Amino acid sequence: MSDKTRVAFVGSGGIAEAHLQGLSKHPDVALTAFCDIRKDRAEQVAGRYGAQAFTGATEMLDRTPVDAVFFCLPPFAHGAEMEAVERGIPFFVEKPVHLDLAGARQIASAVAKQNLLTTVGYMNRYRRSINTVRERLADDPAILVTGGWIGGTPRGSEGILSWWIQKDKSGGQFHEQITHTIDLVRYLCGEIVEVHAFAAKGLNRETPAQYTVEDAAVVNLRLANGGAANLWASCSANAGGGGVSLNVYAYGLTAHYTGWEHTLRLMRTGQDTVEIAGEPDIFGIEDAAFIKAVRERDPSHVRSSYADGLAAIEVSLAANESMDTGRPVRLTLH
Ligand SMILES: NC(=O)c1ccc[n+]([C@@H]2O[C@H](COP(=O)([O-])OP(=O)(O)OC[C@H]3O[C@@H](n4cnc5c(N)ncnc54)[C@H](O)[C@@H]3O)[C@@H](O)[C@H]2O)c1
Repeated sequence: MSDKTRVAFVGSGGIAEAHLQGLSKHPDVALTAFCDIRKDRAEQVAGRYGAQAFTGATEMLDRTPVDAVFFCLPPFAHGAEMEAVERGIPFFVEKPVHLDLAGARQIASAVAKQNLLTTVGYMNRYRRSINTVRERLADDPAILVTGGWIGGTPRGSEGILSWWIQKDKSGGQFHEQITHTIDLVRYLCGEIVEVHAFAAKGLNRETPAQYTVEDAAVVNLRLANGGAANLWASCSANAGGGGVSLNVYAYGLTAHYTGWEHTLRLMRTGQDTVEIAGEPDIFGIEDAAFIKAVRERDPSHVRSSYADGLAAIEVSLAANESMDTGRPVRLTLH
């Protein structure tokens, strides 16, 4: 490896920009190449950092020496991760890792065979508010979890909304957004073994013609530890009152998280209430951990792996199946 860690991006849109804010200032990182099916976008971002621009991952990785790749693709566009696996290049992939379960399983199996360093954009795993509760839950297991994301109704069909509002591209809000909450249920409480979901459709008004996602979904989860969870997604809070929430109840502990930053109010029997604010620069923290793991060839610095990304989509795709059939889906733990 050269002095600096040479980083390339596949997908140069909104979330790539969020990662670039910290990575462009990281003293150990050289941004060397960007690829996007939109050539203008790849060129515009690459131009800013004196990097090379490509329209395909294969050509980029064939022609540019790279130490780590960030895959920042919409859910339907995954698959190029195999190019990194075949070359033994560690990678970071944004959540959800895929829309196609078979495709994700193939990548997971190739990653495992190579013992390749990978991580998924579940940035909340780096929050002090989350890890404080995780330690406590180790000997006071979660009994009930509730939470989800509620936003307004999408009105446009440009930019991220061009794919987000289409179920066959994003997988729907539960798959695309609540994947963060599913991941936190797994990280805090352990594995999920059964999924039963209900969807609300066709109630939001004045939506773009391409809008095929649910207006809302509620999803019940059975936890391997015997506990239960109820998660929700909705894009119907046009009059206000939406937001991100997560509540965990154990025998002697209640953890209330509020907002995107997952600020914590922790109540424990017989103890003072503790408040922990969420870190605003969480992408910078998550990316620095990945770069450290790549430089030191030490996966213990990252808090999620491709296998965690696969486990989360097993849950959200089971929820989609359950929304369609009305039946609960049992999950096989791998
Ligand atoms: N961790 C987080 O909190 C967070 C926040 C926002 C988005 N995301 C995730 O990041 C992913 C991307 O979202 P975004 O907001 O950047 O979307 P975006 O639409 O802004 O950007 C995606 C980019 O990928 C490009 N692209 C599509 N197919 C491609 C392909 N085959 N090869 C190369 N480039 C391709 C598009 O042209 C676009 O420029 C989504 O899965 C989303 O869920 C995560």
